[in-house]
Amino acid sequence: MRLDKYLGDTAMLTRKEAAEAIRRGRVSVEGAKGPCKPNQNIDPDRDIVTLDGEILKYQKYHYLMLHKPAGCITATEGSAPTVMDLVPKVSKNLFPVGRLDKDTEGLLLITDDGALGHQLLSPKHHVGKTYEVHTAVPVSEADLERLRAGVDIDDPEPTLPAEAEPDGDGHLLLTLYEGRYHQVKRMLMAVGNEVTYLKRLSFGPLQLGDLEKGACRELTEEEAEALRNA
Ligand code: URA
Repeated sequence: MRLDKYLGDTAMLTRKEAAEAIRRGRVSVEGAKGPCKPNQNIDPDRDIVTLDGEILKYQKYHYLMLHKPAGCITATEGSAPTVMDLVPKVSKNLFPVGRLDKDTEGLLLITDDGALGHQLLSPKHHVGKTYEVHTAVPVSEADLERLRAGVDIDDPEPTLPAEAEPDGDGHLLLTLYEGRYHQVKRMLMAVGNEVTYLKRLSFGPLQLGDLEKGACRELTEEEAEALRNA
């Protein structure tokens, strides 16, 4: 990989900034002879590169879990606050995997691994997503059965079988294996109810756990591996 690209990937420098940093002698490649050049080739897995004396850490892809708060939109740009405002700028190619509505809270996966992101969203691979759902009126046993079996939400096809259970706190835990527009809200509407609060607790093998609202963290190696196998 070219040294200037490596500096772009690890230190978020533009090509121009990387060239300038190299020219000013701020960059060193351990063991290399003579001054560094932007187009010199380095091995990201073996070479030790420093910027201002700090060793740069190369990571091909980044996987982050955000606890999305209500009020921000799931988009990479826009006039309203976006989820990306809450995510550290570890890569130029980060994007949210799927979307949560502006008023929905909870687990949102953010990555720059395009292939994995698309795989996780593809209808063939749809991974389970569990939501804590607060409703205007309690969900009856008969309605739980209807939600599990699939309901008509004015799409060509009814919803796929889902898991629906009371959470013991007067709310509903709903696990879906597909991702249609406003799906949870439309499913509750189909049984004559209304969502008053919605939070995603899990996405495939990932659990939100006690991550604070608005906080973002890197996935552990085990979580990233589980996601790749999901
Ligand atoms: N279903 C919804 O209705 N909204 C969300 O944000 C996610 C799932």
